Amino acid sequence: MTLRHFLTISDLTYDELIRLLDRASALKALRGAPEHPKPLDGKTVALVFEKASTRTRLSLEVGINELGASPVTLISKDTQLVRGEPIEDTARMLSSYVHAVVYRTFGHDRLERLAQSSTIPVVNGLSDRFHPCQLLADLMTVRQSFGPSLKDIRVAWIGDGNNMAHSWIASAALGGFELVLACPDRYQPDPEVLADARANGAKVRLIERPEEAAEGAMVVTTDVWASMGQESEAKERRNAFSGFLVDDAIMRRASSEAIFLHCLPAHRGEEVSASVIDGVQSRVWDEAENRLHTQKALLEWLIT
Ligand code: CP
Ligand code: NVA
Repeated sequence: MTLRHFLTISDLTYDELIRLLDRASALKALRGAPEHPKPLDGKTVALVFEKASTRTRLSLEVGINELGASPVTLISKDTQLVRGEPIEDTARMLSSYVHAVVYRTFGHDRLERLAQSSTIPVVNGLSDRFHPCQLLADLMTVRQSFGPSLKDIRVAWIGDGNNMAHSWIASAALGGFELVLACPDRYQPDPEVLADARANGAKVRLIERPEEAAEGAMVVTTDVWASMGQESEAKERRNAFSGFLVDDAIMRRASSEAIFLHCLPAHRGEEVSASVIDGVQSRVWDEAENRLHTQKALLEWLIT
């Protein structure tokens, strides 16, 4: 079997994406039933975190158990990584102990180096560049609202041009949907990520004003203004992002059917108003739940 990694959503073909999302729905339906499969019986999956996590860790630990495997979670401060052990040596050691590794880190190059030196599947549990596991959950949530085809969807991203924005941009190329982003001048997405996605057919537009981005959108989504590792910039960013709050006025510009998504954790009153995230259009709790189902489908596919 060919070794596959999942470092970005672009590691999948469209057909693979749809198969994974269909499988995630099937696993959701079987959850708790005696016929729920245990395809990873006896296997072990390592989860390595260099940044904080609530959802990613929990959904993976629970999901891995439900697939019959055992998770082993390493927090980097308790490992030799913080004392400078090379990522390549870590990869070789992990490959001899476990059947897959999920890695949350800073620079995306660290994930690529881990993957290059591993003989087991490597999954990106979030890097400064991409958060593809989150996009699987987000796209499952989009399909739950608008049906199986992703092609006729219009998505508005309002906020930081960060790892989540990059993941939506890469997904637009794969899923064939339209994506409009409004980001403050100094916080635009990486031009390389945009160029790659456009070269792969992505219909992506950058515009200045959040309310224009929201116009007619079926999905309105955002993320924190200061991501993990940018805590010291929080004040400066709060100033730069003034006017980028997703509130009821923004949601009124979107389609009347529009849903609101946020990967969480959220800061009510900064990037999103409480009325939106806790309101009737919000699907953030389904989105968080879908991390579990989609990652189970992903690990089953990568490991078996
Ligand atoms: N959305 C997400 O990845 O959440 P955590 O940081 O809690 O894992
Ligand atoms: N952009 C955020 C996402 C958290 C799940 C971060 O990287 O901190």
